[in-house]
Amino acid sequence: MRAPRFIECPAPAGLPPAAEAAAGLARRPARLPPKFFYDALGSRLFDAITELPEYYPTRTEAAIFADHGDAIAAAVHAALGRGATLVDLGAGNCEKAERVFGAFAPGRYVAVDISAGYLRTTLERLQQRHPALDVVGVGIDFSARLALPAGLVDAPALLFYPGSSIGNFAPTDALRLLREAREAARGGALLIGVDLVKPADVLESAYDDALGVTAAFNLNLLRHLNRLLGTDFDVRDWRHVAFFDAAASRIEMHLQARRALAVRWPGGGRGFDAGERIHTEDSYKWTLAGFEALLREAGFARVQAWTDARRWFALLLAAG
Ligand code: AVJ
Repeated sequence: MRAPRFIECPAPAGLPPAAEAAAGLARRPARLPPKFFYDALGSRLFDAITELPEYYPTRTEAAIFADHGDAIAAAVHAALGRGATLVDLGAGNCEKAERVFGAFAPGRYVAVDISAGYLRTTLERLQQRHPALDVVGVGIDFSARLALPAGLVDAPALLFYPGSSIGNFAPTDALRLLREAREAARGGALLIGVDLVKPADVLESAYDDALGVTAAFNLNLLRHLNRLLGTDFDVRDWRHVAFFDAAASRIEMHLQARRALAVRWPGGGRGFDAGERIHTEDSYKWTLAGFEALLREAGFARVQAWTDARRWFALLLAAG
């Protein structure tokens, strides 16, 4: 049996993570990139979110695969043939990619995720279930720039970016990432999941669930910062806030101080007034036509889309 390979990439041009976190905290208003959610516990809390009745995206995307799987597989084969490389962007627990193995039959599986430790465990298990597959784990943060290590993709590949993770990017950054994905696919294709605009109450309960799992996911960021940066956050001083901004077409998540307080970290610190917030995530919601136009603007000549009956979520295959 083969063993998975792992490639740890050094942080790209930007600041090292602790410095990036310190800079974000010092900003007014404070703002942290959502990648800091995903320490080991954060990745598990996100998995728990996907099981919540209120969080429809994962389930709806799976239903689109179930209902249109044959058509999607046929379209992927028409674009690429069998045995190509499958690049899984933000692989997480790799479950979604593994479900398309049957239809897509990749020769190599490249799992890309910022949480390299979490990848290691999942890929070792995955390799046992697929002994012949060439499995590669790549620990990179592609949020600022998507550039894969040389030699991994040398022929047209399928880039897989499910779950509407593209929603974390503001439209201009999303356009840049889609252009980079098109380059990285080397003449192959991109299969991407996108969450669509829908009534605000549906959106808001998906990001503020009754059990408080999303609140825990958001608050866990503070514990991650305590380890990463050495801050002295007390999670009990903060509350989870999520709302839909219809004008910007995005869910915003924030952490709000329950009282006036001060936070210190090695080399810095700042105060927060009662009610002051740290902006932790944007999750953009697209119209289908809007996202198709974005893919074309990124240079893809052929775009196919599949949606659910309520048109809550879309899967798009972009090629050319
Ligand atoms: C992983 C970015 C797709 O925006 O729905 C879930 C993250 N945040 N609940 C999303 C998330 C709060 C999720 N993405």
